Amino acid sequence: MLNNTVWSILCLLSLSAAIVGHANDQSVVTVISKEGQDAVLPCSLSTRKNIVQTVFDWKKDDQKEVFLYDAGIHYNNGRTGQDQQFIGRVSHFPGQLEFGNASIIIQNTTVIDSGTYSCVFPRIQPQAQIFKIQLLIGGTFKDRSNIIPGAAQEPCVTILTATEHKVFLKCEVRGAFPQPKVQWQDSDGKVLPAEEPQVSERDKRYSVTLITTVTRTTTNRFYCVVTQDVIKHRTAADIYVPFCEPKCNHSAGTFMGGWFSGALSVGGPLAVFLVIKYIKKRQRERSDQQEKDPENGAAVSLNLEDV
Ligand SMILES: *[C@@H]1O[C@H](CO)[C@@H](O)[C@H](O)[C@H]1NC(C)=O
Ligand SMILES: *[C@@H]1O[C@H](CO)[C@@H](O)[C@H](O)[C@H]1NC(C)=O
Repeated sequence: MLNNTVWSILCLLSLSAAIVGHANDQSVVTVISKEGQDAVLPCSLSTRKNIVQTVFDWKKDDQKEVFLYDAGIHYNNGRTGQDQQFIGRVSHFPGQLEFGNASIIIQNTTVIDSGTYSCVFPRIQPQAQIFKIQLLIGGTFKDRSNIIPGAAQEPCVTILTATEHKVFLKCEVRGAFPQPKVQWQDSDGKVLPAEEPQVSERDKRYSVTLITTVTRTTTNRFYCVVTQDVIKHRTAADIYVPFCEPKCNHSAGTFMGGWFSGALSVGGPLAVFLVIKYIKKRQRERSDQQEKDPENGAAVSLNLEDV
């Protein structure tokens, strides 16, 4: 008994030591900002040495070129090689260089700007200096499939098979990066138990298939919801399962699956999200139709950008 207690305490002590040690290890400055706002990433030499005639280089996640300054030449005055993501959005503070301040400002941030930035002075004597800054951009979940490469497209949902009492629903997502989380939900937003997702990866793009079994419940509509947390992307597709009424004939055509575009009645934020998606889909369909048939009514113009 006593031994157990002692061990527990020792365990707890070493665990907390490990956590503290880890946190102290890296002197990473964290900057938190919101999507659409500008973010200043700080980086200054403690010596306040003049850096006008030297080099400093900002990189994101050790790979993307954010901002390179070399004795007055940088990406905003002719130098090439800046990553596409940052072109025209990053500047330094020229008046601060003489005080050893290599901070930069990133304009109009989006969630994909989140990550670890390094600010390197490769030619500072006696040794190169590296500063790490973690940037976290908060954003709300929305459909970003048209803005961010790798954001999952709307999933494909089908009825796989059906027995008298059960229906197997399949949801497929293809070519997404980062790896998406896929869930089946009922119309109350409750996550349904599902089989283990089948995940495959090719060229850093993930495809996920998720199968669930549904039985007759109070709802007939089911949603496959695809989420990519890091890029705050969410998309979904729904499927209508016409479960048999007890009086109906079981012999033929019992289950018909497919895309239904009826009015939705679901609760919570997902409902709003799906209704918006639905309206957008209808808008697309209508504008497609108008292209074919120009006399067919005026254009619908709802502003859905803020969702
Ligand atoms: C460096 O310059 C930025 C922009 O003017 C400023 O916000 C920051 O406080 C400066 N850092 C230091 C250490 O002076
Ligand atoms: C900010 O970025 C978004 C998309 O990333 C773009 O639609 C918008 O026009 C930008 N705003 C400004 C002020 O540049």
